[in-house]
Amino acid sequence: MHSKHSEITIGQMAKRTGLAVSAIRFYETEGLITANRNRGGHRRFARAQVRRVSFILIAQQFGLTLPQIKAVLDELPENRTPTAKDWAHISMGLRIHLDERIAKLERMRDSLDGCIGCGCLSLDACALYNPEDKLSQRGTGPIISMQKET
Ligand code: FES
Repeated sequence: MHSKHSEITIGQMAKRTGLAVSAIRFYETEGLITANRNRGGHRRFARAQVRRVSFILIAQQFGLTLPQIKAVLDELPENRTPTAKDWAHISMGLRIHLDERIAKLERMRDSLDGCIGCGCLSLDACALYNPEDKLSQRGTGPIISMQKET
């Protein structure tokens, strides 16, 4: 539990995180962070929310969408400050996401290798249009294109 004295204003949150006040409001609207309201109705953020914002910014750098980030953050406890163990747990989830993303990018890179010199950019055959890479098991882009023509 945190004391009211440890809470910060939205302006302080903006200063601490380098974000615009509007971005912080947006994150709150999207349910990524939460704020209490003082008697005047102004937002007051627990200091743990600063770490949440830091996580959001890092996760965005790793390519997670806001809904994906929200799903990860939803695993953190709301009623207490997350512990190092809590953060380690969600960091593991982030690592799994990154591993999947890296694997997908590697498959895309390999598809690109196959397309160099082809240039057909066929919507039907080119593996670059196939984000799930379902066609990769049958070969890379130019091979498929040539297979379809024969
Ligand atoms: S450019 Fe990708 S299959 Fe031709």
